Amino acid sequence: MTDKKRVFSGLQPTGDIHLGNYLGALKNWVKLQDDYDPVYCVVDLHAITVDYDPAIYQRERLEAAKVLMACGIDPQRSLFYFQSQVPQHTELSWILGTMTPMGVLNRMTQYKDKVDKGIAANFGLFAYPVLMAADILLYRAHLVPVGDDQKQHLEMTRDIAERFNNRFGEVFPIPDPLIPEHTARVMSLSDPTSKMSKSDPNLKSRVLVLDSPDVIRKKLRSAVTDSDPDVRYDWTAKPGVSNLLEIFSACSGRTIDDLEGEYQSSGYGVFKDAVADAVIAELAPISKAYDALDDGEVSALMATGAARARDLAEEYQEEVRRVTGFAAP
Ligand code: TYM
Repeated sequence: MTDKKRVFSGLQPTGDIHLGNYLGALKNWVKLQDDYDPVYCVVDLHAITVDYDPAIYQRERLEAAKVLMACGIDPQRSLFYFQSQVPQHTELSWILGTMTPMGVLNRMTQYKDKVDKGIAANFGLFAYPVLMAADILLYRAHLVPVGDDQKQHLEMTRDIAERFNNRFGEVFPIPDPLIPEHTARVMSLSDPTSKMSKSDPNLKSRVLVLDSPDVIRKKLRSAVTDSDPDVRYDWTAKPGVSNLLEIFSACSGRTIDDLEGEYQSSGYGVFKDAVADAVIAELAPISKAYDALDDGEVSALMATGAARARDLAEEYQEEVRRVTGFAAP
């Protein structure tokens, strides 16, 4: 046990990990390893709430673990594992589900968006945020680094924790989200009014963290901007340019003001190339680290992580069982 505060976060293993995932969440995951006690999870049970192919899922799960390690998740410093390997997540999820009003789940915008897009409205998809609350509360997390799209789920998690504590005693800390000031919502390169997303059929809409430098440059050069050539940070009039400025700033460590000053009248060609340089410099070490990883070693590390996670989860879950009337006779 340590005195450090607990961080928890998760990522779904379907689709390739993109710059939005990285700048919105993963960069913070990596950073928080220094000062917190982190638990990070490939949430493979969440990902099956939409249609998936079991024949390739095994590979996708391992790929996600590898990319996260390449991004800097260090299994020596973080507890890192596959959600499905730790059954206490689903056990707690059931208990929390009995305390979650239908009306609250009905208001979840991610659920509504998915159903509006034609995804089948199954029970798992509806209950998705309850499993997410269980992930976070199971480990008594204080801080949850996520992108802006998870804010509503985090608010629901806080409400569930409060409801549980009021009924059964102070068991769960009330977790805070950690959402970056900029890049909380990295937008699509082909339509800067919608979020960069793994499921967008247009491959030019997103940069993948494992894209080669050539591909990154091509995608950024084709990013949709507007017809007024000023490089200015203005989300209403210039969403495409503002998105690129946020990406540029996050990858270069320079402020948006500073970048605006330098590129204001450089023209979009020069500006986009400079953004590409910064993104390539940020992502190149990840590809290099990924190439050096061995599948067998990563699988073994994930198995070790799961065994440690089960021990920790079991300790915590015993407390939940005790206060809810499920202690072993
Ligand atoms: P997932 O797998 O969709 O995304 C992983 C993380 O990436 C962030 N993200 C973005 N951030 C900025 N701009 C974008 N365009 C963008 N797209 C995605 C997400 O906000 C997320 O932080 N429900 C979660 C997974 C989850 C979880 C949890 C997270 C399950 N249990 C417990 C935190 C705590 C999700 O769908 O992530």
